[in-house]
Amino acid sequence: MCGIVGFTGQVNALPILMKGLYSLEYRGYDSAGIAAFTGHGLEVVKTKGRIVNLEEKIREAGNPYSTCGIGHTRWATHGSPSDRNSHPHLGGPDGKVAVVHNGIIENYLFLRQQLEKHGYVFQSETDTETVAHLIDYLHTGRQEDLAQTVLKAVGLLRGSYALGVVSMADQQEIVAARRDNPLIIGLGEGENMIASDITAIISRTRKYIILDDNEVAVVRPDRVTVYNQLGDVVDKPVQEVSWDLSAAEKGGYAHFMLKEIMEQPRAVSDTVRPRIQDGHIMLEDSGLTDERLRSIEHIHIIACGSALHAGMVGRAVIEDLCRVRCEATVASEFRYSNPIISEKDLCIVISQSGETADSLAAMRQAQAAGAFTVAIVNVVSSSIAREADGVLYTWAGPEIAVATTKGYSAQLAALYLIAARTALARGLLGADQEAEICRDLLALPEGIRQALDCVKTMQCLASLYSNRSSVFYLGRGLDYAAGMEASLKLKEISYVHSEAYAAGELKHGTISLIEEGTLVVALATQERLFEKTVSNIREVASRGAEVILVTTDEFDGDASVCKSIIRLPTCPERFSASLSIIPLQLLAYYIAVERSCDVDKPRNLAKSVTVE
Ligand code: F6R
Repeated sequence: MCGIVGFTGQVNALPILMKGLYSLEYRGYDSAGIAAFTGHGLEVVKTKGRIVNLEEKIREAGNPYSTCGIGHTRWATHGSPSDRNSHPHLGGPDGKVAVVHNGIIENYLFLRQQLEKHGYVFQSETDTETVAHLIDYLHTGRQEDLAQTVLKAVGLLRGSYALGVVSMADQQEIVAARRDNPLIIGLGEGENMIASDITAIISRTRKYIILDDNEVAVVRPDRVTVYNQLGDVVDKPVQEVSWDLSAAEKGGYAHFMLKEIMEQPRAVSDTVRPRIQDGHIMLEDSGLTDERLRSIEHIHIIACGSALHAGMVGRAVIEDLCRVRCEATVASEFRYSNPIISEKDLCIVISQSGETADSLAAMRQAQAAGAFTVAIVNVVSSSIAREADGVLYTWAGPEIAVATTKGYSAQLAALYLIAARTALARGLLGADQEAEICRDLLALPEGIRQALDCVKTMQCLASLYSNRSSVFYLGRGLDYAAGMEASLKLKEISYVHSEAYAAGELKHGTISLIEEGTLVVALATQERLFEKTVSNIREVASRGAEVILVTTDEFDGDASVCKSIIRLPTCPERFSASLSIIPLQLLAYYIAVERSCDVDKPRNLAKSVTVE
């Protein structure tokens, strides 16, 4: 989704802005631009397409020098990707104000009509241009500083925003504002930055401030001042980035996605290890005390996309181990479905980025209804992490590829911890079983490492099957949930149509899509369901499907109709989704590579979905 970077200091801002924009590429975008104060005033260069195109345009403009500017990567919402819809947008007839914006202004049409009545002429179809003109309108002719005007302007906006604003009135100053969209301020020596994401500042500073909703910041080379909604100065704690730059680099891999797939043993280990102390699962600091876990009547898991798929696995493990009713619901549906929530409910919100707009809104709704909310989040101090009643961090490290892999695996691990602790609190597991589960969880990273050994096999299978136009994933129970994630991985990065089906459900309609040569990936990791899944495999194979079976060493069913069998290392069945996804992430990855897709930045997708 859109990215913001801004710099004000003593050195040339343009290379810093460009570097920042490159580091934001992973969020997904379709156009990019910058605005900076140069010898010619407030200059804007922007273009549809990749950042290299923007670089080219900046070269053509003579590589202007500037010590203060703002940059943006746009993921289109209002108006198609085009040069004129790209940010920054200028405000006023003479373009004295420039604005970059992440989010959606919901009342933009009304504001636009009002501004047009005052003679403002719009160049784009965006909601953002309204903000630029609004600031110009409120600023012109008034003896107030830009921050005061921005405070007034944001008071008139409905919707969500992270804003970076510069004005000819002060060429060293950037004004930043946020509501429901992340924005941080990087603190340097004689220079400061704004950014939607730590990756954009980390090459210059590790110190930063998180802007909270409804705050406005004035960022100058030598100081940063933050104001609340009332215009009072707020004291903000300074945070420090805990990971180093190499974590956000490819480290010799062809793509971030492959690097992150390979990092999964470490990601799971770092998530599990701190939570197991002396053979006990410790979650009290996340607010999950035994007393609370004992009294829960209902668990709601809320998430989107892959995080929801992790939630589907978690739901099955929680119900199985804890015998407490648990539902996994799409956040965007949860929030508008008048859900039944009580004070005795636990709401688990899962989000890698911690900024997903729907998940955040659904969590707030659950909180308002009195449920205790715990967030499984990867990005430290993200909005969901800060607003949840308790947080269980996944320590996957920065995830750069748009398609999540290590984030997802770490989420599964966190859910297993919650399931086991809940079962213990409710007296459904004894001390011996706790010790056993702790051993199993600590062994999971090694199981994932062994599962990764199939990398060459999956590369070969990818080259065999990369030309298929449709792929089906079949499984039951946990395997169905894992199939959902495997299917999403394939379609999002390779653009191959794919669906996951509960293996027993296929014959109720979808089997009519199976024809000679259709690729079907069957998952069978639960012994009691082996035979059932074998029957479903035979049903599709007899209609011409070519089947890859992902199963365990224990599988002794008849797989004679399968073209290939991938055997996973031994692991307790309830954690099998952590292993079965590994070969299928690799399959998706290599199919996307075979098809020459932009693996790390698939079309139309965004890493952090901060709009509804
Ligand atoms: C798919 C993917 C998305 C995210 C979803 C939620 O590979 O990454 O489906 O899982 O957008 O994002 P978070 O976890 O940041 O809330």
